[in-house]
Amino acid sequence: MNGFKTIMLMAAACMLNACGDSNAKLMERLAAVDIDSIKPSSDLHGKAMLAGQKLFAQHCAQCHGGGEVPRAVNVPDLSDDYWLIGGENLDDFNIRASDIEKRIRFGIRADHDATWKETMMPPRGGASDLTPLEIYQVAEYVLERAGATDIDLEIAMHGEAVYTGKGGCYDCHGQKGEGASAFGATDLTRPQYWLYGKTRAAVTDVITAGAAGVSPAFEGKLTPGEMKATAIYVHGSAKSLGF
Ligand code: HEC
Ligand code: HEC
Repeated sequence: MNGFKTIMLMAAACMLNACGDSNAKLMERLAAVDIDSIKPSSDLHGKAMLAGQKLFAQHCAQCHGGGEVPRAVNVPDLSDDYWLIGGENLDDFNIRASDIEKRIRFGIRADHDATWKETMMPPRGGASDLTPLEIYQVAEYVLERAGATDIDLEIAMHGEAVYTGKGGCYDCHGQKGEGASAFGATDLTRPQYWLYGKTRAAVTDVITAGAAGVSPAFEGKLTPGEMKATAIYVHGSAKSLGF
């Protein structure tokens, strides 16, 4: 039986039975397992996807978008194939359901001791920092890396010198702007995933004022089982994972 049929049958079963009861059991069961060990074809995975979808609509969609709800500004789309913050498994850095569970539990730059906060985009427009000319030049280089066509190559060349020199941008975003998911540092060559805008003005603003996106911590707001169900749903419906 394919996954869609399973979900439809379970939705029907849930309407007929005492869904609340079985939901509490499901959450207990999820709380007790290592979510990376749950096979995508299993009954438990199917049930978690269904419960997770509801939780996502209640707790995440107002920012991340989903169903009829549009995504808020400066918030990433969790259903695409790009992860700003990579997986923590050192073998392949692929994102696992347990990585998403951590993002949910502790948040990103959130009000929690264990929150993810490796880096942020530092503001570089301070009085003794990059000059307006240097910011202009490095913004031109960023736009060049992003594939913009109206580039002044000479300005971009000066910008590259700022990028690899005084700007220190390569430290987080990589030698050629390819990004570094371990630092949550954006891939500057793929503007379709940017959060703060693709125009020259928007790029200049981010470099000048910095950026530090926040995803709230849900520990204490959702139960361990609920956080796992939501993580399984996010992981299981992301395009990169081929479900
Ligand atoms: C300490 C690490 C670090 C350094 C150094 C750094 N960045 Fe960033 N940058 C980040 C992080 C992290 C983000 C993502 C911020 C967020 O998600 O809120 C980011 C975001 C950006 C963005 C916005 C992308 C988007 O989603 O719209 C641009 C543009 C950018 N950086 C350019 C630069 C340039 C140019 C420099 C050098 C002057 C630089 N960065 C230096 C970490 C860094
Ligand atoms: C108040 C708005 C808000 C809510 C509510 C919210 N998030 Fe986020 N979330 C964000 C923002 C903003 C970011 C980007 C952080 C950054 O710039 O690095 C983010 C990032 C993430 C990321 C990392 C994405 C990546 O590409 O690496 C995950 C995973 C995530 N959120 C999951 C969730 C889940 C699941 C929920 C619900 C349980 C949730 N968030 C609720 C605003 C929100």
